[in-house]
Amino acid sequence: MTTSLESDRAARTDGWWRSAVVYQIYPRSFQDSNSDGVGDIPGIVSRLDYLAELGVDVLWLSPVYRSPQIDNGYDISDYRDIDPLFGTLADLDELIGRAHDRGIKLIMDLVVNHTSDQHAWFIESRDPASDKRDWYFWRPARPGHEPGTPGAEPDDSQAAFAPSVWTHDPRSGEYYLGIFSPGQPDLNWENPDVRQAVHAMMRWWIDRGVDGFRMDVINLISKPAVLTSRGPIAAAPSGMWQIANGPRLDEFLAEMNREVGLDAQNLLTVGETPGATIEVAQRITDPARHELNMVFTFEHVSLDQVGWNKWDLADLTLPALKDNLAQWQYGLAEAGWNSLYLDNHDQPRAVSRFGDDSPEHRVNSAKTLATVLHLHKGTPYVYQGEEFGMTNAPLTEIGHYLDVESLNYHTLAVATGIPEVDVLRSLARKSRDHARTPVQWDDTPYAGFTAGVPWMPVNPNYPAINADAARRDPGSVFAHFQRLIRLRHADEVVREGRFDLLLPDHEQLWAFTRTLGDRVLLVVANCSSAPAEIPPDSLPGLDGAELVLGTHDDAATSVLAPWESRILRLTSAG
Ligand code: GLC
Repeated sequence: MTTSLESDRAARTDGWWRSAVVYQIYPRSFQDSNSDGVGDIPGIVSRLDYLAELGVDVLWLSPVYRSPQIDNGYDISDYRDIDPLFGTLADLDELIGRAHDRGIKLIMDLVVNHTSDQHAWFIESRDPASDKRDWYFWRPARPGHEPGTPGAEPDDSQAAFAPSVWTHDPRSGEYYLGIFSPGQPDLNWENPDVRQAVHAMMRWWIDRGVDGFRMDVINLISKPAVLTSRGPIAAAPSGMWQIANGPRLDEFLAEMNREVGLDAQNLLTVGETPGATIEVAQRITDPARHELNMVFTFEHVSLDQVGWNKWDLADLTLPALKDNLAQWQYGLAEAGWNSLYLDNHDQPRAVSRFGDDSPEHRVNSAKTLATVLHLHKGTPYVYQGEEFGMTNAPLTEIGHYLDVESLNYHTLAVATGIPEVDVLRSLARKSRDHARTPVQWDDTPYAGFTAGVPWMPVNPNYPAINADAARRDPGSVFAHFQRLIRLRHADEVVREGRFDLLLPDHEQLWAFTRTLGDRVLLVVANCSSAPAEIPPDSLPGLDGAELVLGTHDDAATSVLAPWESRILRLTSAG
């Protein structure tokens, strides 16, 4: 008799993730089952049929571990238990088993750049005599300053969600590093005991049947010398972009892969890597190096900002977006692999940001964005609600926001004299809260998300935009996602074909081919809310091409309707 662990392993054939579509669940906002207003694991179990109907292969669960929830679970106080908000370990075991029954795999979010300040490791580390002291970064006050007084932090670096990366601990008079917030102290990966503890924890989850890990800000684990040397912190690099891709990153990832058996067991590994360049991604995802299968780039979601500051808004142009995705395609074409995404729990809604969420264009723009994304080479990620075109929420006043990042930005920006109206404009465009409104399941109160009061208001457009309505409409965004997922599963060209960008400077059309041997798919998509004409003779082989999947019925014309897209099979390779 085979154990379920053995059959889990057998289901993971070599390279299986290259043909997979991953669906991200942000559990807090997915489905509540016990009427406390917060989504939970039994709620996810109750929606597995829906996910199977959509056709996705893998679920990525944002963190459900024990946590004080200052960053909605990205601050973990116990890696081996489930927060009661979300259920129990038994609930998770059931979810894994029931997902596997449907042929759906499950990956966990692995948050090991930092723990919660309530984690037992950190609590012990507060004692200067403890052998866990060195598991975190403890540093004295700035020379000549009284610890705990204003300006005594070891340096001036700002945290992602707080004014300083340094927090004073009165017990020892020293400061600890938390590059996100004081509730998220950074682990010291230089210490081999830290690494071994993380590896052991990962093995424990694999033994429970998980199929891989999404690794939170994993390229921040190797800190620069200014932080790892014991000397005074003269000028630590400020901001996480400067901390990224440190000197021992590849070594730590390869060691983890080896020690945990990530590749040996064909687990899916995807690293979240803010500030990773194509060169960094080439190294990390080269299969011969045995680090990770793929990474999440931040470049294409940083094109609508100035520099590294996401709140400093800039206009996005289609040529810039196309070029960026194309460079990643070319950069990882030989060795390595791309992950493909337009939104997640940290980004605004794709259709509102890259498409047109007006009633007239929402459906077609959501479909066309999906067409373009899913026809790139790599593993596509669908973020909950994206599959039926959920939009940004009408967040207009500071009182509408809940996210620690948004609230911290508002406080700091207003204090430095940025006019509140500008701050609110940035928040309305970029806040992570847009992604976190409850999933709109149907048109009943609170959109079927909860029978209680939701932790975050439901987007008021739920009577028109919901999963139930989309499932019943063959022309819906949901139906289009189903077709795209089926196409990827059925067509080797979609999975493995070479990518070539066409019409790079066109301001409305996104066009490219995928080529495998003599088989060619051509994608042409109008990414604008006005009609667009295909320039004569600009797309070789267009005449007589067969329509594989389109947003509109009439695919023979040379003019594409607003947000129309076509996937065509060329009849000859010319
Ligand atoms: C990642 C997560 C984000 C979290 C941060 C700190 O970027 O996706 O939600 O706030 O890491 O853990």
